[in-house]
Amino acid sequence: MPEDKSGENVTEAQIAVHWKEEETYAPPTSFIAQANMTDEDVLERFGEQNFPNCFKEYADMLDWYEYWTKTLDTSKPPFWRWFVGGKLNACYNCVDRHLPKYKNKTALHFVPEPENEAIHHMTYQELYVKVNEFAMLLRDFCGLKRGDRVTLHMPMTAELPITMLACARLGIIHSQVFSGFSGKACADRIVDSGSHVLITEDAYYRSGKLLDHKVKADIAVAEAEKEGQKVDKVLIWQRYPGKYSAKTPLVEGRDFIVNDILPKYLGAKVEPEKMNSEDVLFLMYTSGTTGKPKGAQHSTGGYMAYVTGTSKYIQDIHPEDVYWCMADIGWITGHSYIVYGPLALAASSVIFEGVPTYPDAGRPWRVAEELDVNIFHTSPTAIRALRRVGPDEPAKYNYNFKHMTTVGEPIEPEVWRWYYNVVGKKKAVIVDTWWQTETGGFLCSTVPAIHKMKPGSAGPGVPGIYPEILDDNGQPLPRGSNKAGNIVIRNPWPGLMQTIWHDDERFVRQYYERYCADKNSTDWHDWPYFAGDGAVEAPDGYFRILGRIDDVINVAGHRLGTKELESAALMVPEIGEAAVVPVPDPIKGRLPHVFVSLKPGIQASKEIEQKVSDTLAAEIGPIAKPGRVWIVPDMPKTRSGKIMRRVLAAVASGQDTGDTTTLANPEVVEKIKSLA
Ligand code: WT7
Repeated sequence: MPEDKSGENVTEAQIAVHWKEEETYAPPTSFIAQANMTDEDVLERFGEQNFPNCFKEYADMLDWYEYWTKTLDTSKPPFWRWFVGGKLNACYNCVDRHLPKYKNKTALHFVPEPENEAIHHMTYQELYVKVNEFAMLLRDFCGLKRGDRVTLHMPMTAELPITMLACARLGIIHSQVFSGFSGKACADRIVDSGSHVLITEDAYYRSGKLLDHKVKADIAVAEAEKEGQKVDKVLIWQRYPGKYSAKTPLVEGRDFIVNDILPKYLGAKVEPEKMNSEDVLFLMYTSGTTGKPKGAQHSTGGYMAYVTGTSKYIQDIHPEDVYWCMADIGWITGHSYIVYGPLALAASSVIFEGVPTYPDAGRPWRVAEELDVNIFHTSPTAIRALRRVGPDEPAKYNYNFKHMTTVGEPIEPEVWRWYYNVVGKKKAVIVDTWWQTETGGFLCSTVPAIHKMKPGSAGPGVPGIYPEILDDNGQPLPRGSNKAGNIVIRNPWPGLMQTIWHDDERFVRQYYERYCADKNSTDWHDWPYFAGDGAVEAPDGYFRILGRIDDVINVAGHRLGTKELESAALMVPEIGEAAVVPVPDPIKGRLPHVFVSLKPGIQASKEIEQKVSDTLAAEIGPIAKPGRVWIVPDMPKTRSGKIMRRVLAAVASGQDTGDTTTLANPEVVEKIKSLA
C-alpha cells in the first residue's frame, strides 16, 4: 500500500492528487444585478432539512393539470418516484402555455451551416402550429399512441425539437440517436427500444458537405430487422422542404417524405395528453464501460421540473434571453438545455447545424453577434479547438455574453482562463456544470450570481444535491481534504433517470450496488448514487472532477489523473490540445505518454517536446515525467468531439488500433502511426 506525505497508509482512492489551488473570480456585478437567483439562502432552502419538499420550488415553475399528492415516494429503492399523482404535459409546458404572452417571440433560431443561407426564426406560435400538425401525422398516419417508442435519427435542424415536442404532446416516448452515429448504432437502439417507426432527415451539412443521411436509415432498418425488430415506417424530413436532397431512393410503402403528407394535417390541433408525472418522456442511450448501450429512461414530471429549475437558476435563463447551447440535441445536454429547459422558460434557443470551426474559428462569434446571443454553452473540446485555431477571433466581434457554460469534461484552468478572458471578455460569468446522461440535469456547479468561480472546479453541489467523496471501502473522505476518491450523490433528485430501459437489474448494479449499505432499507440515506467519476473536494467545498475512475494512470504506485497531466501540458503556450495515455513500462508499471497538437503556425521541434516534459515534471513532480511526448498533426476524435485516447494508447504501445472508421477523422491515425 502506498504512503501519503504524512507517512500513513492510505487506500488507492485516497491518494492525494497534485492539483494546485487556482485563483477565484467574483461574478460581475452587472450579472448579479439581473440574475434569477441572488438569494444566498437558496442552498439552505434546498438543504437536507428541507428535502425532498424543496423541489416543489422547481415543480411549481411548471403548469400541472393535477397537482401531485406525494413529493417523493421511496418505498421501492432505488426506483424513486417524484411528484406522485401529478399530471402534466411537457409539450404544453414548452409551447402552449407561452402563447398568451409570447406567441410572437422567437422560440427557435435555426442557423444553417452554410453562411449564405438565411437564419430561420420560428415564433412560439409557429412552433405551436408545426408541433400540432406533426403530432396529428404521428397519430393518424402512423397510428402512434401514448407509451409507444419512436426512434429519431435526426441532425441539428429545427425539425428535431418539433419532432420531440410532437411526441411529448401525445405521450410517445422518443429516443433520439445522435446523427453522427452509424446506421448500425441506430439499429441497436431501434431494437432495444422496440420502435416501429424511424424518423430521420434526408441530408444535413457538416464541414461544408451536404451529407446523405437517409442512407443510414436503410442500414438501420435492415440491421434492426435482422435482430427481429421490424420498422414499418420511415418518416423523412427534408433539409430543403419540397426537395429531396439524398441520393438514396425511397422504399415504396415504407419511406414517407414528411412534407408530402403534412399538408393533409394543415391547421390540425391535437390536445396534449395528460401524462402522469411518472410516465416516460424519453430514452437517451449512452455507452457504458462494457456491454451494449443502455437506455437512460427519463420521466415527465421529475425531469421537466429539474431541467426547468436548473435552467432558471444555473443557466440564468429569462424569456428575454437569446440562449445558444452549441451541443447536439443527440446528447442529453441538448435535450435538457437546448430543448426542454430553455423552452419551458420561454427563451429563444439557437439550433446550430454546423461545426464550430467551419469555415473558420470566427463562426461562433459571428452567429453570436448576429443573433445577439447572451448565454453561451459549450464543451471544453470545442473551447480548446477554438482556442487552438482562432485564439484572437473573439476580439474581432461585437457580441455580449452575460453567461457561459462549460460541460462534458474537466476543463484545464489554462483553457478556462482563455474562455473567461477572451471569449467572455471578462464580462461573463462562467458555470462549469458536472453531470451525466443518467442524471438529467446538473449535479455540481456554482450558482452563478452567488458563488465565486474557480478555474477547473465545477463547484459545490447545486441546490438540492448533496455530493460526497467515498473511498474504495465506502468510507467518506474528510470534507475538504483534497484527496481523490469516488464522488457519489447521497440523495435522490427529480432529474435522475428512473431506470435503464428494460434492465432494472443493470440500473441497480451499475449505480447503487457498490455503496448501498442495506438493500432492504427504504431510507434513501442508504442508497448513494455512484457516478463513476473520481473527484476531490477542496476546503471551500468545491468539487473538482478528475474524470472517469478508469482514466487514472498508476505510475509506480502513484495515481496520476490523465486530466491533471493534460492540464499541465496545456500550460506550454505552443500547445493547442493534449491527451495523455498510459503505456506499459517494465519498471514503473505504467508511464504516461503525452500527445500534443500545436497551435497554428507553430513548427514541431525537440524544444517543444522538452518543454512539455519539463512542465509536467515541474507542475506535478518528477513522477509525471512522460515516457515520450508525441507532437501530432491532430487528435483522433469521435463524432462528438471527444479525443479517442484508446487509439493513442494503442499506437504508443505498438498495439493494433482496432476499428477506427467511426472516428470523425480516421485519416489522422495513419499519420500518428508513422511517427512511431
Ligand atoms: C461524464 C458524463 C453531462 C452532459 C455531457 C456528458 C464527464 C461531464 C463534466 C464537467 C468534468 C465532466 C464526467 C461524467 N463530465 N461534465 N463539468 N467536468 N467532467 O454526458 O456523456 O453522460 O458523460 O462526462 O466524467 O461522468 P455523458
